[in-house]
Amino acid sequence: MVDDTTVETVTRPQIHIQNAVKSFSGRVVVDVDELTLGDHPIEGLIGPNGAGKTTLMRMIMHSTPLDRGTITLSNANGASDVVISDLPTYWMAPHGLVKSNQVIMDFDKLTILDSILLAVAAAKYEHPHRMFDEPQVYNDAEERLHQYMEYFDLGDPYRFAGSAGEKKLLDIIRCLLLDPKFLMLDEPTAGLPEDVTDKVMQIIRDLAASGTSVVIVEHDLNVIWNLSDDVHFMAEGSVLMHGSPEEIRDNKTVIEKYLGEGHV
Ligand SMILES: Nc1ncnc2c1ncn2[C@@H]1O[C@H](COP(=O)(O)OP(=O)(O)O)[C@@H](O)[C@H]1O
Ligand SMILES: [Mg+2]
Repeated sequence: MVDDTTVETVTRPQIHIQNAVKSFSGRVVVDVDELTLGDHPIEGLIGPNGAGKTTLMRMIMHSTPLDRGTITLSNANGASDVVISDLPTYWMAPHGLVKSNQVIMDFDKLTILDSILLAVAAAKYEHPHRMFDEPQVYNDAEERLHQYMEYFDLGDPYRFAGSAGEKKLLDIIRCLLLDPKFLMLDEPTAGLPEDVTDKVMQIIRDLAASGTSVVIVEHDLNVIWNLSDDVHFMAEGSVLMHGSPEEIRDNKTVIEKYLGEGHV
């Protein structure tokens, strides 16, 4: 018998941010009183350049330390809450909290295959001279790795990434291979051709449908309107409003004020 309550009882991981503040050189760039991410499968985080979106996500990963405040991860399925703002960045990925990079992190000296393999190398193999000799690292991830390479038409795995867009894509694939339960994507489609953007959006939808919480920062608002169930609007370090894509989109005063008429 099909149990139709299953869908209702799936709980997604959530992130709760309280009084989180970050300043650089005495200037406050993030000041978020109260924010929950992960109430909806896919949430958009939008706002003008310099609003603090990247900094806020880096604070969640603790790759930017907070001046003050608390960030908590509520895990799905009854696991107890964890105050992640007390934990080091390396704790995050093995516990399902993963973020892609806005700025392209390229490994010019690694082939496409090696660059992706970095994500699946267990900590004990994270010595470059050892990990690529470890057949186990490769074998465990081989099938999924090749699925992604095929899906994205990456071709010869032993060549080097050719374009900025391709390097961006490798970063996204590394995130996917980490089996994220809470995935934050910082402008994932910037620099990607339209057909690849569509493929990335489809993967994000599938991932969210399987229970992963996704937060996406994106400059291309069409991606946000298409993908998000809920949108947070951030400006000058604070989250000013949230609502359905339609609500945010219809709030022309705010959008025009911050993003310019062309974006609405
Ligand atoms: N490491 C840093 N040192 C100094 N200023 C920074 C640093 N990182 C970010 N900022 C500043 O913080 C503000 C917010 O930046 P950011 O979080 O990148 O915004 P967004 O991602 O919304 O465009 C910007 O004014 C930026 O210049
Ligand atoms: Mg940014």
